[in-house]
Amino acid sequence: MAADRPEPPTAPEPSISLEPPTVVGRLERADPAGLPADWSRWRDQVDLAGYDERWRRMAEAGENPHGEADLVCSYRPTSVLDAGCGTGRVAIELARRGVRVLGVDADPDMIAAASAKAPELAWLHADLTGLALAERFDVVVLAGNVVPYVAAEHRAGALAGCASALAAGGRLVAGFTLRPGWPTPAQYDGWCAAAGLVPEASYATWDGAPFEDGGDYLVAVHRAER
Ligand SMILES: C[S@@+](CC[C@H](N)C(=O)[O-])C[C@H]1O[C@@H](n2cnc3c(N)ncnc32)[C@H](O)[C@@H]1O
Repeated sequence: MAADRPEPPTAPEPSISLEPPTVVGRLERADPAGLPADWSRWRDQVDLAGYDERWRRMAEAGENPHGEADLVCSYRPTSVLDAGCGTGRVAIELARRGVRVLGVDADPDMIAAASAKAPELAWLHADLTGLALAERFDVVVLAGNVVPYVAAEHRAGALAGCASALAAGGRLVAGFTLRPGWPTPAQYDGWCAAAGLVPEASYATWDGAPFEDGGDYLVAVHRAER
């Protein structure tokens, strides 16, 4: 994959309506029991209030907690699907910048926490595998290790679900840790190719540091040609 840096991120003008999009989503298989053991273990260790606290502490320490939103906004989207939105931190930040958002997650507690934080936004409790939305989005973002936390046997299907939600020319932007037993960049590229997406860029960080083989984090951008 190419490793070109994106244009410096710029937030779009907040001129877009924040009306929740009309969602025609079907809950094909949103059974939390379908979430993988890795995810259950993670959930057992983390209380959701503490999870959000981590991002607040980053901001207090002068670090940027919104790298994902910055990269997504560098593509100047008017609409973004936050796929595997968790408690909604990325979608909420994008909406604050004027982007129309829909957050989707298969874990009912995560989506309930997101909805409680921002009831004015659109949230959908659904599985990315078999996702069938009427609306198409300029960007679908998979932030914060969504890809490895999708059950291994459903990753190709989840990527196909994400690709089906992209407008022509839209981008799938995903970031995840590279570690033994988790998806590799080549596997991820393969699932994207099978879903009809072409690789556009890969980075080591959300602020666009170049990706090098052997790195421990990948931010990959793929594009829907049509
Ligand atoms: C580590 S969290 C990341 C949450 C959020 N994107 C963030 O960055 O804060 C991973 C999320 O992926 C969701 N997830 C895993 N498999 C999924 C699937 N098949 N469909 C939808 N969401 C899924 C989990 O429920 C969880 O909320």
